[in-house]
Amino acid sequence: MSTPPKSTTPKTMRAFVLTGHGGMDKLQFHRDWPTPVPGSGEVLIRVHACGLNNTDVNTRIGWYSKAITKPTSDTAYGTEAEADPSWGGTPLAFPRIQGGDAVGTVVSAVEAGDQHLVGKRVLVETILRDWDDPTNLDRCGYLGSEADGGFAEYMTVHARNAHPIETELSDAELATFAIAYSTAENMMDRARVTAADSVLIPGASGGVGGALVQLAKRRGATVVALASESKHAAVSALGPDVLLPRSPDDLAEALQLATGSRTVSVVADVVGGEDFAARLDALQRGGRLVCSGAIAGPVVPFDLRTLYLGDLSVFGATILSPHIFPDLVSYIERREITPVLAATYPLEELRQAQQAFIDKEHVGNIVVTTA
Ligand SMILES: NC(=O)c1ccc[n+]([C@@H]2O[C@H](COP(=O)([O-])OP(=O)(O)OC[C@H]3O[C@@H](n4cnc5c(N)ncnc54)[C@H](OP(=O)(O)O)[C@@H]3O)[C@@H](O)[C@H]2O)c1
Repeated sequence: MSTPPKSTTPKTMRAFVLTGHGGMDKLQFHRDWPTPVPGSGEVLIRVHACGLNNTDVNTRIGWYSKAITKPTSDTAYGTEAEADPSWGGTPLAFPRIQGGDAVGTVVSAVEAGDQHLVGKRVLVETILRDWDDPTNLDRCGYLGSEADGGFAEYMTVHARNAHPIETELSDAELATFAIAYSTAENMMDRARVTAADSVLIPGASGGVGGALVQLAKRRGATVVALASESKHAAVSALGPDVLLPRSPDDLAEALQLATGSRTVSVVADVVGGEDFAARLDALQRGGRLVCSGAIAGPVVPFDLRTLYLGDLSVFGATILSPHIFPDLVSYIERREITPVLAATYPLEELRQAQQAFIDKEHVGNIVVTTA
């Protein structure tokens, strides 16, 4: 593909802009938002598609605040969240373009050494780093939170966050991967999941949960998935060995009946909520819990005796180890994992897309496109 002259980039663009914390009315569509200008080390990307995530909702409603104890779906923004409403615990700068799951084509690069990226289709890595100190967790940000993201026609990002990808998947299919699958692969990596493991995955119908099923199977582990029964047909296509209801009356008994064992070696949890204690109890002695989310509620019963008497290990996982995203790109290119695209909406209908995302009748992920 040839390099388009910089002058072809319009000065303004279509963009959905978050103007503050609150309801859907805080998401405002503009047809004449200034097109961003790439800075030192950055590339300019024409965004084709961008996936939705709970972090868009959590950030908008201030759910990350320690003052909030309810599930994402039960939470409305209140003044109690003002001090610490973002994932990193610090107030956000508005206006902000959200969208951390961007796919697009690089239209220009600032540095001479990055010109090879121009014209390439790229999957954008969501974790923003200080590339002089890339493993410093205190110097990381999240695309769409600490910097503008992909709910717009154009975005800028550091060249090292723009990963060229060779695949026949559509832009919308590709836009389901970045956050959900990198989070899931990071969880598998933290818990060091291997073929010797049995992995319990709640929320397997969701973006991260469905990715966890595929990535645990990719490692050869035995997978026990939990999902609403109305979604079982779609989740079974992802290949779990056992599929149980979202909230079995007696999880240990359900595991015994389905697998012949009352326990598993790993729980990979992005759901939390009131069933969390039963999942912790389902870990075998020496088992590992890895957690990257809490959509059903962040404050859970946690019996410390279960932890120490069971010699359990607990991992929290948000910032990706630097090798995770390149690994993910290689899995996609080798067709070792598949996208689960539930629906696409035009960018202009982001609010409707986000309402469908919140309603949770879908399996996989929802994407907006900017054609
Ligand atoms: N740390 C990170 O970097 C990171 C990255 C991505 C996501 N996350 C977090 O991980 C969590 C899940 O993300 P996701 O993208 O997989 O979410 P999602 O696509 O919305 O899926 C969540 C799934 O959880 C299940 N669920 C169980 N109880 C629920 C409840 N009370 N309310 C809503 N859903 C419930 C639902 O499946 P069933 O109806 O089948 O039970 C649903 O499909 C969120 O809290 C998100 O913020 C964190």
